[in-house]
Amino acid sequence: MQRDWNQQTAEAIIARYEQVQASLLPILHAVQEEFGFISETAMRLIATSLNITRAEVYGVVSFYHDYRQAPAGRHVLKLCRAEACQAMGAEANAAALLNRLGLDWGGTTPDGRLTVEPIYCLGLCACAPSALLDGELHARLDAAGLEALAMDAA
Ligand code: FES
Repeated sequence: MQRDWNQQTAEAIIARYEQVQASLLPILHAVQEEFGFISETAMRLIATSLNITRAEVYGVVSFYHDYRQAPAGRHVLKLCRAEACQAMGAEANAAALLNRLGLDWGGTTPDGRLTVEPIYCLGLCACAPSALLDGELHARLDAAGLEALAMDAA
């Protein structure tokens, strides 16, 4: 369960890694695990603690697709964009869904119901196209199946 933002909790998380070398990724992972995303304030605290710039922290957060800079919706749909799924039409299916929802990758519906994110291979290449909805695997998703999956997430 993710908790609301709390600066003391974030500082305690960061402090756990004070003696750890190369601690940026573990801290980011722990902060996101706690709050569900990495806020601007958290990035500032992390930068100060590690004596690096906020731009360096932001660069890492924005590089890795698994880090969020805003809270996710109540449901998170991760669509595979790797080669096998691409070969089976995943990109067109995803584009149609994103268009229908009025979202870009990483976007959340205005009602906060669904966030759609990319992921790169779920190990279900033989059953492509594949997706992960709230941690549950789904395979052989044609355009209609993907739309039904997304619209049924309530
Ligand atoms: S490429 Fe999509 S599951 Fe492997």
